[in-house]
Amino acid sequence: MSPIPRTRFSRPVLIVVFVSIALLSIFLITPHPYNPVSSVSSLIFPHTNSPHAVPQSYYDDPEPYGTIGADTSTPTPGQPIRRRANATLLMLARNSDVDEAARSVREMEDRFNHKYGYPWVFLNEQPFSDDFKRRVSNVVSGPVHFGQIPEEHWYQPSWINETRATEERDKMEEEGVIYGGSLSYRNMCRFNSGFFYRHPLVQNFRYYWRVEPGVHFRCDVNFDPFAYMHENNKTYGFTITMYEFQRTIETLWSTVQDFITEHPEYVAVNSAMNFLSDNGGTDYNLCHFWSNFEIADMDFWRGEAYTAFFDYLDSHGGFYYERWGDAPVHSIGAALFAGKDRIQFFREIGYEHAPYTHCPAEEDLWKQGRCSCEPSQSFDYDGYSCLPRWDRIEGR
Ligand SMILES: *[C@@H]1O[C@H](CO)[C@@H](O)[C@H](O)[C@H]1NC(C)=O
Ligand SMILES: *[C@@H]1O[C@H](CO)[C@@H](O)[C@H](O)[C@H]1NC(C)=O
Ligand SMILES: *[C@@H]1O[C@H](CO)[C@@H](O)[C@H](O)[C@H]1NC(C)=O
Repeated sequence: MSPIPRTRFSRPVLIVVFVSIALLSIFLITPHPYNPVSSVSSLIFPHTNSPHAVPQSYYDDPEPYGTIGADTSTPTPGQPIRRRANATLLMLARNSDVDEAARSVREMEDRFNHKYGYPWVFLNEQPFSDDFKRRVSNVVSGPVHFGQIPEEHWYQPSWINETRATEERDKMEEEGVIYGGSLSYRNMCRFNSGFFYRHPLVQNFRYYWRVEPGVHFRCDVNFDPFAYMHENNKTYGFTITMYEFQRTIETLWSTVQDFITEHPEYVAVNSAMNFLSDNGGTDYNLCHFWSNFEIADMDFWRGEAYTAFFDYLDSHGGFYYERWGDAPVHSIGAALFAGKDRIQFFREIGYEHAPYTHCPAEEDLWKQGRCSCEPSQSFDYDGYSCLPRWDRIEGR
């Protein structure tokens, strides 16, 4: 006699198998809302040819980019610029990040920049070490600049009540909030929200692509996203969008509401409020663009609306009394003051910041980009992703 009574184990197992087969059949037979064709391929690639993808005309021969120099001509929609845009690749890093910085830069060069030769700017609140400069200079293809952040752009302002700030940090630390006890993380979030684009090395440029140490670019980028942004009047580009931790931004939304009540003139006619709120602006649904990847127009951050917005937020001290991140601050600013038509989901750029990856969901884009990521593991339709909300904004 077998010591294991067969029926006690096999029946539940069989039930699970039958239920799984039944569910899978229903899933395979039911037309997917995005794609009426039911096939295994449509499960891996739920989207085909998006009307919002970068048009093929932008996949131009990068050879004419040989001449260094920013484009100053007036853009004509649909006519690709054949010269480099007024743009830089930008990384904030510490000397101790050197290995991961060199790796990110190398991937960016291999996947994109070796054909385009955009300059790099590296910023650090301390002077960059010779070692950092040597390692990074060895992997860049274009000009490279290393800069130190002015103290007044980085450190906690003197008007912040340090007793209160310390109490709040300690409380968040006790509650296990990620980076809840960190002062340097707060400095970084405030710097990224309102200062990086004022740095003398960055001020000469209009567009930037933010690159962090330790990230991965999973597809070839055979088009110039800066040229696309410039010609199509785009302000902000993203690849991953998700929910913020409520605990880190408890009074951010009420502060935003106060600001737009005082300044309704800054809210764009085509604002993407419905991306941020499910009830017309009463509550924030916590959706934001994950700002460790950004391709954006700094003239927007430098402009009147966002400058007034940042100064207003900063004066409330929430970067230090709470732990406001640059991701919700940029996202709210772009969604409300630039508007939905000026925000681009760069679906064709495969991007990984552990633990999340955006991998193109369109088979043609995935193949064209020779992507090394797996579309079915993309974060796009993870339960924690806000992309379904962005799809609604795009009318998909
Ligand atoms: C600073 O914060 C502490 C703790 O919240 C408070 O007791 C104190 O009155 C504050 N000081 C000033 C000058 O507002
Ligand atoms: C590039 O953009 C910056 C910021 O808008 C501007 O100050 C600068 O003059 C531009 N450079 C060129 C060559 O157009
Ligand atoms: C770009 O957007 C701005 C603001 O929405 C608008 O004033 C301008 O006319 C647009 N330009 C083009 C070329 O569409």
